[in-house]
Parts: sequence; structure tokens; C-alpha cells
Amino acid sequence: MNFKLQKGGEVKIIPVTKETKELEDANELYSYLMKKDLFKGNCGEIYSNALYSKDKVILLGLGEKNKITCNSLRKAFYNLGVELMDLKIESADISIPIFKNIDYKNTVQAIVEGLLQSEYSFEKYLTKKKTIPSVENIYLDILEEKKEETIEAIEETKNLIEGIFLTRNLVNEPAMYMTPKALANNAKKELEQVGVEVKVYGAKEIEELGMEAFLAVSKGSSQEPQLIVMNYKGNPNSDEKLALVGKGLTYDSGGYSIKTSNGMVTMHSDMAGSASVIGAMKSIAMSKLKKNVVGIIAACENMISGKAYKPGDIIGSMSGKTIEVLNTDAEGRLTLADALWYAADVVKADKIIDIATLTGACVVALGNINTGAITNNDTLMNNVNKAAEIAGEPVWELPHNDEYKELIKGTFADLKNSGGRGAGTITAGLFLQEFVKDTPWVHLDIAGTSYLSSKNAYLPKGATGVPVKTLYFLAKEY
Ligand code: BES
Ligand code: MN
Ligand code: ZN
Repeated sequence: MNFKLQKGGEVKIIPVTKETKELEDANELYSYLMKKDLFKGNCGEIYSNALYSKDKVILLGLGEKNKITCNSLRKAFYNLGVELMDLKIESADISIPIFKNIDYKNTVQAIVEGLLQSEYSFEKYLTKKKTIPSVENIYLDILEEKKEETIEAIEETKNLIEGIFLTRNLVNEPAMYMTPKALANNAKKELEQVGVEVKVYGAKEIEELGMEAFLAVSKGSSQEPQLIVMNYKGNPNSDEKLALVGKGLTYDSGGYSIKTSNGMVTMHSDMAGSASVIGAMKSIAMSKLKKNVVGIIAACENMISGKAYKPGDIIGSMSGKTIEVLNTDAEGRLTLADALWYAADVVKADKIIDIATLTGACVVALGNINTGAITNNDTLMNNVNKAAEIAGEPVWELPHNDEYKELIKGTFADLKNSGGRGAGTITAGLFLQEFVKDTPWVHLDIAGTSYLSSKNAYLPKGATGVPVKTLYFLAKEY
């Protein structure tokens, strides 16, 4: 899909709100449809005469005028993209609508993103591909004085989509192919070409670093663990660094605290946090943000074998803290403990965000709409909230009272890796907090939002790419 700033499309797209009374370009058709109650202007609703009229128009509903948001625009224009594809229309004219409550650049971005979102599919392993070729050209009708701003908005959105689709592809790939080494190779392949330095450490170096918790999780697997460190220096004049730490379990069987067979089916997606870090860094580097960002991934598998760690084991960690393993399925926090310590102690990051498919409890609490969050710093949390708002990726902060810490105090070691059933997302977050020193930190639990069992608006079934946009806007604006 190409965007051009001129006219020339084969159909004209006419955005309509629920309040629209008259339409300049399609008045007769429109008043007919309205009279017969055939078109209501609901968000994402579409009426097309393209199959029978020479004067082709598509009415696109945007919903109630004062309820239009960036996300409702994304949804509406995603539907339009799908419809254009179904109708095999190759080009369309869109004049960018002006809204009182959304600024111009955000409007363009939401429209362009929605349209581009309709192009995603993961069909690599289908012998018969389903995809119909996407729309060739979208002609945007804009004011001359908005030209530069529009071009910028389109470029930035394309770069974001690149990161989102990359994340989805990495997550949708089965674990048999997306091993820790494959993840590392993908990070190298995708990021080095956009100027990010990527260093990969194997088992021996991970051991030398003292990452005992990370190694304990990976012990049962025949796949070598990989520590992936990605460095983007967009502002060489500054020492300030934002660290993005992603959970990178390329497969989580649960280990000896084994999952049910159903619970295991989607566990190739337990590296969605790390994939979102790679995707966000791709977008950040492509858009040449003037910020320094370090991505850190402790990638491994959680498997069963004679070498695997066991419930009851007491393990060490890079921080020196000791941990009782009550449940080998609470493995993410062990790998993250060492990755976070690395971010705080070795990288000396000024801010840390970790992104993890950490708890089933988060899915119970928030479903697949909100990402759960825990923080030790209200300012950083605020900034994450603002970025999430621009992104249209809702985040909900959970409480972190000190009282909950009792639940993860160990008996024979400093900590235990499971706080039991109650408040599972909170205790997991507080466990991680033990490893960030006092660095401002936000933990994002994406167990419910990174992978869907059925599509939701522009988010497809399977990997969603959440929260790539949030990470991007956080790096950019804050
Ligand atoms: N990767 C899972 C969490 C998960 C579950 C993500 C469902 C996506 C969908 C994580 O490693 C896990 O197993 N967590 C345990 C923790 C418990 C043993 C304390 C869980 O949530 O049951
Ligand atoms: Mn697990
Ligand atoms: Zn896991």
C-alpha cells in the first residue's frame, strides 16, 4: 500500500459520523440510505456502491462525532482496508477529516495505521495463501501547508508498522523454529541493518556473568540459552539510557510443574515480551529517534529432562540474592531477575521497562484488553500511561503495597519464586522489583494482550504486537 498526496483513486472514500446530515459528494445515495435506515454511521460501518456504480463511493462510518478517538479511527480505517481488499479495489481517494479533539498529525497516523494494519497475515505455512493482493495506492487529499507534516506522519507510521509486524512474525513462529539462537539471529538480522549494535552471549558467558537464575530455567533444554543485548545510540551526546527488558521464553512447558496440554499449545508465544523489544527497537532505529535505548533479552526454553531444575531447588542469581523454586512454571521472573539486574547494574540504565507474558493471573484480572503494570516510580508510570494512550494500547496499574512482599519471602532462601494463587500478577511484579536496585522501573504484564485466541478489531488472532507502539512513544516522548 502506497500513500500519495494527490488525487487519482478509483473510488472516493467518504467518512460519515452518526451526526452527518448531508453529504456533498453522495447526497442522493446518502439520503436514500439514511431514509431506509441502511447506513447509520457506526464506527467501522461501510457502504459501497463500487460493484454497480460508475461514480464509485464508499461511505465509512466513524461513529458519534464527539466519541471519535485515534483508536476508533484505526478501527474504522482497518475495516476500510479489509473492504477495499475484498472488493479488489486498487486505489482510493481519502480526504483527511479535521477533528476538534484530535490533532492533525495524530489523525493522519491513525488513518494510515488502520489501513496498513489490514495488510497483516501470517501465511508462511499455508500451502494455499488466502491473501488477496492489498490496495495499491491510497491518495490522500490534504492542504498544501500540511504537506510536510503529513509526509512525516506517514513515514513514522510505516516504521511503526514494520516493528509491529516483525514482532508478530517472531511470536507466531512455532517454538521448533524460533529457538533462542533463532531469536538472537533475527535480532541481529533485523536490527544491525538499521544501525543497532547487537551482542549475543552464549551459555559460557552467561555463566561467567553469574546469571544463575537464568541458567537454572534453561538447564532442562537442549537449546543453548542466549543473552541478547541490543544497543541503539540515537543521542551520542547523552549518557542517558532507557532499558527495555523482554521476557524471552521461546517455549514454556512449565518444566516439572508441568502445564496442561491445552495450556502448552500457545507457549511458543512466551517470548512476546522480547519480540516486542526487538520490534520497538526496529521502529525506533528506523525513525532515528534521538534517544539511547538498550534492549536486553534472556532467551531460553523451560523444558523437562534429567538436567532440568526442580521444585524445591534453591538457586542463586546475578544479584547475589537466593531463590527457592516453589514452582518451575514461575520461570519468567527467574530469567528476568538476571536480565533486570544486568540492566540496572551493568548497563546502568536510567529507566527500565520490562515486558513479559508473566502471569495467567493477569489474564484472569484484566482479560485481553489491558496490559497489567507494576512500578516503583509514579513519574515513569505516568509517562508509560501517556505513551499507551497515544498508542491505543490500554495499560492498568495494579497496587504494589509493601504488604504483598510477605508473600514472596523465602523460608530457606531470600525469596521464593511463587507467592501462591492470590494476587499472582502483583507478587510476580514485586519479585522483579527486587532486581532493579532503585532504578525507576515499570513492569508490563502482557500475558493477556500480546496473543489473542480470536481477532479484536485491527488486532489479529495470534500475536498482536502489543505493546510495540507504547514502547516506541515512550522512547520518543519521555
Ligand atoms: N508464561 C506463563 C504465563 C502465561 C499464562 C502467559 C497464560 C500467557 C498465557 C508463566 O510462565 C507462568 O506459567 N506463570 C505461572 C506462575 C505461577 C506458577 C506462580 C502462572 O501464571 O500460572
Ligand atoms: Mn511458566
Ligand atoms: Zn512463562
